[in-house]
This record gives sequence, structure tokens and C-alpha cells, in this order.
Amino acid sequence: MREINASIPVDKRLWRQDLAGSRAHARMLADCGIISAPDAEAILSGLDQIEAEYEAGGVPEHIELEDIHMQVETRLKELIGEPAGRLHTARSRNDQVATDFRLWVRDACTAADTALKGLQAALVARAEEHADSVMPGFTHLQVAQPVTFGHHLLAYYEMAKRDRSRFADCARRLNQSPLGSAALAGTSFPIDRAATAKALGFDAPTANSMDGVSDRDFAVEFLGCVAQAAIHLSRLAEEMILWSSQPFGFVKLPDAWSTGSSIMPEKRNPDAAELVRGHTGRIIGAFTGLMITMKGLPLTYSKDMQDDKAPLFEAWDLLDLSLAAMTGMVSTVTFLPQRMRAVAGTGFSTATDLADWLVRDHGLPFREAHHITGAVVKLCEERGIALEALTPEDLASIDSRLKDCTLPDLSVDGSVNSRTSAGGTAPLRVGEAVALAKQELST
Ligand code: ARG
Repeated sequence: MREINASIPVDKRLWRQDLAGSRAHARMLADCGIISAPDAEAILSGLDQIEAEYEAGGVPEHIELEDIHMQVETRLKELIGEPAGRLHTARSRNDQVATDFRLWVRDACTAADTALKGLQAALVARAEEHADSVMPGFTHLQVAQPVTFGHHLLAYYEMAKRDRSRFADCARRLNQSPLGSAALAGTSFPIDRAATAKALGFDAPTANSMDGVSDRDFAVEFLGCVAQAAIHLSRLAEEMILWSSQPFGFVKLPDAWSTGSSIMPEKRNPDAAELVRGHTGRIIGAFTGLMITMKGLPLTYSKDMQDDKAPLFEAWDLLDLSLAAMTGMVSTVTFLPQRMRAVAGTGFSTATDLADWLVRDHGLPFREAHHITGAVVKLCEERGIALEALTPEDLASIDSRLKDCTLPDLSVDGSVNSRTSAGGTAPLRVGEAVALAKQELST
């Protein structure tokens, strides 16, 4: 029973939040005349002492004390004696743990924001460097159209921006205090829930005591934010893995972010990127797991809910580490623009430019232009030449309307330079996007 019941090995991580909650509660109890001022003083100084003990390396852990709440209260009793027993007036571990956990998740949202911002800064710096480096853009992992590498990197900037807004939204929605919900029904003591909410930086007390103690939607929502951010990182990690493999050869990972093989001396493996991709599976598992834990629970508290913390802590730790790894990798990876440019020109990647030119300069409907371009690509394939090597006579042999025309610039640079639509890949637009991103990051 002792072993299955205990959560202290996991929830000791809430010690700061637990002390903060207890301080706010003790002060409120005294202010409302529920406990005496000297008792509150004794409790507060005892809590200070416990804080110092945790800072200095921890309070000896007793598994029979079950959780962080009992652990702190028991230690308080050892330190100050009788007044310690008054702290739990008008409070239950049910509202206590819900409060502590919200406080913890709120801090994690802030930490996520800071780490994601760091990743964005790294992406913007490299995008600026490569605003006009040409690379192949892919669809179906087939070379599709040339793009600029800066543009590709800034796609991840946008993803991180939305990830940040999701965490901010999560923090905003969870910011209500369950403290004072007591076990489930509220309390008969004349408490001031608004005062404890304010002291703990919450916007307001939760409106319903049963909801306050029994929902964990904030934790599920946070895990959703973590999972989405991890999925974005995993895609970037996957690209690093592909790009660093020899058939691509788009990047060279620095020694600091790769590992060797114990048997093949030439190896440089993208282990960190692979682990970011792998950790994402565990994070999604944590998210799924907590949803499954919650879905069948009747109101209000059930002990199943104690299993909310381990998956959330694990998922957050993995994301935190993954963000650090990807930020480090993005900052230090060597990009090989020559190889990217060479691949960008393969696979008739500027065929769309030819079709667009037929529409623009010859007034053809796009569908017809698409058809003619298809025939042109076939001709080039048969002859083993690039689109750029076409002559006006070649075009005229496919469609007589095209004789005596001047061919457009079908180079990869010509292609990217022409894509100036809003949000497009042209170096001009990438430069603007970099400037805007820098401004966003500085505010
Ligand atoms: N350790 C518990 C948890 O994390 C605290 C709440 C316990 N409440 C109770 N009635 N047993 O959920």
C-alpha cells in the first residue's frame, strides 16, 4: 500500500509551489481571523526554514508521508510544533495539489516561451545569412521548385511563433486558483479566496469548487502544446537527418552535435536529431496517456489523478532538452549551399516558370501552358538537356505560336527572384521577413 500510494518521488518537484501555496493560505487564515497572528508567524517562519532546507539539497524523503504536501506539513510540525497542525484548516490536499500543479505548469509555459524564442532567434540569424542561398523545395520529397534556404528556415520560425502563442493561451486559461475549494464542496470557514488567488498571481479563484479540485484540463492542454511544439521540432530534426546523409549532403553537422560509431571510424551520426524525433513519440504518449487517465473519472477527485504529474514532467523535460538541442544544432550546423544549389536545378524544377511565362507573355490559359510545358520537359528528357538549354526553335517544334520568342530566365536564381508574392521565397521577401522577425523578437 505504501508503495502504490506514494507520489513523493515524483511530486517533490512541486516543493516551491507547495510552499508558496501554504504561505498564501496561512496569511489569509490569519487575516480572516481563522488562525491567530502568532500561529501564522510561526507557520511562515517554519516554511522559510523548509525552503532553506530544500534549497540546500532537500528534506529527507519518507515514502510513508505519501506526497509533497504531507512531507512539508510533517516537517513543519517537527520544526514549529503545534501551530503546524492549524495550517490545514479550510484546506484539503485536493485543492492544494490542484493549486500547486497549476502554478508549476504556469512557470513551465514561461520557460517554454523563453526556449522557443531562443530557437526563433537562431533560425532568424541563419535565415539572414542564407536569404538568397538556393535550395530545392520539395513536395512528396521530390524536387519541386527552387526556394531560398532562408525561406525554408523561416517556415520553422512561424511554427515556433504559433507554439509560443499556444503556451501563452494555456497559461492564460489555467490562471485561476482552485485554493479554497477544499476537498470538493468548499468550506464553512470564512476564507477569502480572492486574497489567496491574488497572492499567488492568479487572475481569480475558480468558480466551482468541484471543478476546481477535479479537472486537469490545464495539464492536458499543456501537454497538447508540448506535443505540438515537439512535432515541429521533430520535423526539423528529420530534415537535419536527411540533409546530413550523404545522398543529400546539404549540411555538415558539427562535431558537437554528432556522434561517432564504435566500429566505423568515418561515421558522423545525427544522434541528437534522431533523439529529438524519438522523444516526440514519448511526448505524444504522455499527452495521450493523461487524456486516457481522465476520460472515465466521475467527479470529483480520484487517486488516478495523481498520475497526472509523471507524464507531464517527463514530456516537459524532453521538450526542454529537445529545444536546447535543436537550437544548438541550428546555430552551429554548416550549410553546404553549393550542393543545395546543384540539386535545386535538377528534376526540371523551373518548369512552372516556363508555364507561367507562357501565360504571362503569350496569353495562354494556364492549363494549356501546363500541357505545353509537359511536352517541353519530355523533349528535354529525351535529349538529356536542361530547360535552360532550350532554343526558340525547340519551343516552336512543340507549338508554332512560340516561334521567334525570347525565352525567360529559367535558372534557379531567376526562379526564386521572381517569387515575390507576399510570403514568397524571393530573397527580397526573405530579407523583409527577417527584418520583421527581428523586430518581433526584440519586443
Ligand atoms: N498526492 C495526491 C495527488 O497528487 C494529492 C491529493 C491527494 N488527495 C487525496 N484525497 N488522497 O493527487
